[in-house]
Amino acid sequence: MADKKAQLSIEGLDQPIELPVYSGTKGPDVIDVRSLIDSGYFTFDPGFVSTASCESEITYIDGANGVLLHRGYPIDQLADNSNFIELCYLLLNGELPTEEQYKEFDKCVRNHTMVHEQIANFFKGFRRDAHPMAVLCGVIGALSAFYHDNLDITDPSSREVSAVRLIAKMPTLAAMCYKYNIGQPFMYPRNDLSYAENFLYMMFGNPCEPFEVNPVAAKAMDRIFMLHADHEQNASTSTVRLAGSTGANPFACISAGIAALWGPAHGGANEAVLMMLDEIGDESEENIQRYVDRAKDKDDSFRLMGFGHRVYRNFDPRAKVMKETCDEVLEELGVGNNPKLKIAKRLEQIALEDEYFIERKLYPNVDFYSGIILEALGVPTNMFTVIFALSRTTGWVSHWNEMITKGVRIGRPRQLYKGHTERDYPE
Ligand code: SDX
Repeated sequence: MADKKAQLSIEGLDQPIELPVYSGTKGPDVIDVRSLIDSGYFTFDPGFVSTASCESEITYIDGANGVLLHRGYPIDQLADNSNFIELCYLLLNGELPTEEQYKEFDKCVRNHTMVHEQIANFFKGFRRDAHPMAVLCGVIGALSAFYHDNLDITDPSSREVSAVRLIAKMPTLAAMCYKYNIGQPFMYPRNDLSYAENFLYMMFGNPCEPFEVNPVAAKAMDRIFMLHADHEQNASTSTVRLAGSTGANPFACISAGIAALWGPAHGGANEAVLMMLDEIGDESEENIQRYVDRAKDKDDSFRLMGFGHRVYRNFDPRAKVMKETCDEVLEELGVGNNPKLKIAKRLEQIALEDEYFIERKLYPNVDFYSGIILEALGVPTNMFTVIFALSRTTGWVSHWNEMITKGVRIGRPRQLYKGHTERDYPE
């Protein structure tokens, strides 16, 4: 039911086109343009800058004020008071769990962390030096070959089983990607460990000796998982939704999301930030200024990775929490005077005082500090985006489930055609 009407007058049309306008609980109103095709027009919005692709209740971003809400709860309050498993429940179900619901959900996830033994053979088809994101993308796509049951996506309980399987198995498969890359044996998950502890255990433990998970590292990893869990209709989530709109099975949809996340303009930026900080090398004023000047130069492809965002025209609230976590973790791990952290902080300071960045409202985003923490925890840069994908799987499956629950038509955009008009094949 429309909240109000929009009139679209186009030269050459006798009557203006009337379009319904809907209001959400927060954010801009939307103009429903679905009937525009009846008047012979498409809308044109490459990059979907002004396009709402769906109706959703999961996450809200106020880009102007740097606000991120998950089911209405601000990300900084969740980061301070909740944990990743509780956030998974909230994103999937819409409300915070009772103590009983939390215990049951946590137990269910722990009991689904193991993967089919045959999957270990699948890894062996990759070269050892394959990028872990390439391996993860392939392995997740292959999961649908292992889980034939519960793939009736029209059945809510089947969707819930697939969602829990994906959330539970991502840490195991992510750690397997790392172990395969470094030539160490895979570690089986342990049901007595929390989600973040288990991931660190499978990453850094080995069969030859006991491995105690550092509680500081586990808390930092859980915080990183929380800050990457969901972010509205970003590129990879939109990819999952589009794949899901065809009725593809959830494992194939998540594999498509992983592929989209890998790009350096999206989830690949955290790895690119560390490569950029390595390239900058020293924290001297003139050296950092030189790189800031390069980022402003249109003829130079260099960009400040971890800076800028399509939606945030203010600080990314996740970057603020990540920066605080960075200071805490590095201090507690005894690496407080990390040279890369010093360069990152100086780079942020110089950029935020520079007219180019101020004018374009470019601020640090979630990726700017996350890599420094991950590196301090001993995670290699080629695993950074894998960890982003591990965390974002919760957001992806929540949106996939919401889309199917609400009912979806196959996503099929049109185009502004600029090619040849019809012509005959030469005799
Ligand atoms: C993520 O969508 C999400 O929510 C994503 C994410 C999530 O949680 O899912 O938040 C995760 O992907 C964060 C973004 C990570 N990417 C990076 O850090 C890569 C560096 N950032 C840029 O590539 C860029 O800022 C984007 C891709 C993030 C945003 O691109 P837009 O919105 O298309 O903006 P744009 O490229 O059109 O830039 C607008 C202007 C341009 O200058 P002008 O043409 O106006 O002169 O700002 C400039 C750009 O050149 N600009 C930058 C810059 N980012 C934008 N200049 C230098 N360095 C940068 N980082």
